[in-house]
Amino acid sequence: MNILLLGSGGREHALAWKLAASPLTDRMICAPGNAGIAREAECAALDIADHAAVIAFCRANRIDLVVVGPEAPLVAGIVDNLEAAGIKAFGPTRAAARLEGSKGFTKDVCRANRIPTAAYERFTAAATAKDYIRRQGAPIVVKADGLAAGKGVVVAQSIAEAEAAVDMMFGGGLGAAGAEVVIEEFLAGEEASFFALCDGETAIPLVSAQDHKRVGDGDTGPNTGGMGAYSPAPVMTDAITARTMDEIVLPTLRAMKAMGAPYKGVLFAGLMIGKDGPKLIEYNVRFGDPETQVLMLRLMSDLVPALVAARDGQLKSFDLRWYPDAALTVVMAANGYPGDYKRGSVIEGLDEAAQVEGVEIFHAGTKAEGGKILANGGRVLNVTAMGKSVREAQARAYEAVGRIRWPDGFCRRDIGWQAVKRERGG
Ligand code: AMP
Ligand code: GLY
Repeated sequence: MNILLLGSGGREHALAWKLAASPLTDRMICAPGNAGIAREAECAALDIADHAAVIAFCRANRIDLVVVGPEAPLVAGIVDNLEAAGIKAFGPTRAAARLEGSKGFTKDVCRANRIPTAAYERFTAAATAKDYIRRQGAPIVVKADGLAAGKGVVVAQSIAEAEAAVDMMFGGGLGAAGAEVVIEEFLAGEEASFFALCDGETAIPLVSAQDHKRVGDGDTGPNTGGMGAYSPAPVMTDAITARTMDEIVLPTLRAMKAMGAPYKGVLFAGLMIGKDGPKLIEYNVRFGDPETQVLMLRLMSDLVPALVAARDGQLKSFDLRWYPDAALTVVMAANGYPGDYKRGSVIEGLDEAAQVEGVEIFHAGTKAEGGKILANGGRVLNVTAMGKSVREAQARAYEAVGRIRWPDGFCRRDIGWQAVKRERGG
């Protein structure tokens, strides 16, 4: 098969690494890709927002399957356009991608189907939103309805902070994404990332993962796209996983099918596990980044037939096998991230780092120039390792980090701390 993967981050590097390893893959192409992906796949300089250009590329290169990494093209309907052109694509249609594209839509699906989630209301004007905030009190969570590249959620500790978020969003601070806001109850508990492969009707859970969203050690500082992840997440016990499937994922699939928008692709549920069990924080309609980097290391089965079966509606008799080992990834980011940072600094020592046992280095934002690897983004490298325990995977990942010479980058030093503490019995 000829496979085209769309995207350019660490998630796509991990997917390309896994897809390229399949005996079913003849050609592996990634657009636009990065310097690390170029080692697994051919990289094509395509503008993936230009659906007509993607379709023309698929025809010229006889692409049998398109795998879409990020949410923006999904929400913009790239799967509908590809399928209409007779090209098979893995991922949800535009109508199904509303589960990520509109937070208000998802909350309404939850309410109508009794899916556990934070209590909420939707608003299109600041005055009514502020009234609601004053009646509910703080802490309270203010969310832009649309896609805001990870900047659309404000967990407000005070009424003033929540009101400021409302003003920022209705004032156009997030563009069209903030034309409507959802205000919801603050949920306490431990977060987990839950993924299910879906074919419109059947869902197969993937192994559990947890990411670290805050930039600083001890989960402090501003939110980021994710500074590291590990799998398995001990908070996702078998009982919590079963409840998540029965109370959240399967009712969502039934609801989407009933409204004529069956969900195919990977459904990523951000969960809060509190004293009443799992509650949905939000859906994403794609693989997580950096969670995918650890999931792909643990996946024993061939990913290609799994994605084809999801696309074809054939997951019913499908099964995925996983290595029992743990995996952990440390994100190396450019100094200054998630604020302003510089591009173009030189990264050395990657080959020595990759020699540490169990280690794979996925590139998130790099480019190759004159035989050198240069930083080309905020999150730049995902140093990923397997081990018999999270602790062993963590030790291997940090040993590899120690071999990378990049003075303009930094990473958190405590990725996996919750799991390591639990492994120690603490
Ligand atoms: P998101 O950008 O939707 O992934 O949200 C960013 C982060 O905000 C989540 O990972 C949570 O840590 C936090 N968050 C979102 N909604 C809530 C909520 N209702 N209660 C507590 N924390 C929340
Ligand atoms: N790691 C969170 C995300 O992919 O949105």
